[in-house]
Amino acid sequence: MDTHSGPDASPSPDGSARDGADSSYLDAVEALYREAADVPQPALCCTQSPVWELPGLVVPAAMLERNYGCGSTVSPRDLARAKRVLYVGVGAGMEALQFAYFLRRPGGVVAVDTNAAMRALAGELLEDAASVNEWFTPAMVQVRAGDARALPLPDASVDVVAQNCLFNIFTRAHLAEALAEAHRVLAPHGKLVLSDPVAERPIPAHLAADDRLRAACLSGALPLSEYLAALVDAGFGTLEVRARRPYRVLDAARYGLEDNLLLEAVEVVAIKDPVPADGPCIFTGRTAIYVGDEDTLDDGRGHVLLRDLPLGVCDKTASALEGLGRADLIVTKSTWHYPGDGCC
Ligand SMILES: C[S@@+](CC[C@H](N)C(=O)[O-])C[C@H]1O[C@@H](n2cnc3c(N)ncnc32)[C@H](O)[C@@H]1O
Repeated sequence: MDTHSGPDASPSPDGSARDGADSSYLDAVEALYREAADVPQPALCCTQSPVWELPGLVVPAAMLERNYGCGSTVSPRDLARAKRVLYVGVGAGMEALQFAYFLRRPGGVVAVDTNAAMRALAGELLEDAASVNEWFTPAMVQVRAGDARALPLPDASVDVVAQNCLFNIFTRAHLAEALAEAHRVLAPHGKLVLSDPVAERPIPAHLAADDRLRAACLSGALPLSEYLAALVDAGFGTLEVRARRPYRVLDAARYGLEDNLLLEAVEVVAIKDPVPADGPCIFTGRTAIYVGDEDTLDDGRGHVLLRDLPLGVCDKTASALEGLGRADLIVTKSTWHYPGDGCC
């Protein structure tokens, strides 16, 4: 594995001094994904979590072999009322096809990518998909040239934006641009669905500055708290952490570290709600359970807990409820598997 440090290696612990005008790593991104369009790269990105299998959906083998995501961004719970989805970083097109499975309308999915080889491949494989899925026509997915940092869509024009294993590649400055763009094109209350690696601690500079590792989704990851903070800074007022699982280890010997560094793949949904004055609502799978003598407990801030029944609450509310110091109120820890049924 190439672990060279580029000439722009940053002295900061997380490589953030790469930011500002530093776009040098983008050449490595372009080269890697041109290669990955041509020849499947089994070690690139994907986790061992199973790919969606749905009735009547056949994913062409060549798409599966080039699944370069690190989780899933496709969930029917986000799509019940969605008419238009923007998929950023189409890769070989598998998730665009899965979104089309739920939307089933011409132009329902717009999928952009900066890489011409990937766009050409996705176009071909979507044609193949049409020959083995009678419900699907290639018109359901429009593959277009487009950059996450300058999306070719009008303001407030889509209900869902999805990206899988792309935003982690960006430097912080480029991530902020991509998040601002996703926020801009989403309709109010629209959802940005993300699947990305995060790091258990900041990635050291010599790895963050390695263009090829960054392009391969191995050294651009932020700690989860910083990833979520970037989403809030972009204006997303409600966040849901839906999954968190081991992704890779940057092991001490191979990567020149003092200790192994765990990367995890997270699935996060960021909702374009205004950020409340008292801070964002971040759901990480915490619940509150009232076990007192009454039938209900009303905290006076909009939460009514029925005795013995767990209520999903955001981290802000969980902390406030803990702060009450009541023995008849149990507040559970984050599961990192928030199913989307709580209240802020
Ligand atoms: C790790 S792959 C993920 C592909 C796909 N999302 C999947 O799950 O298989 C990243 C993809 O993003 C594309 N990409 C890289 N930089 C981009 C950018 N600035 N804007 C849009 N797409 C980009 C790459 O060409 C590649 O297809």
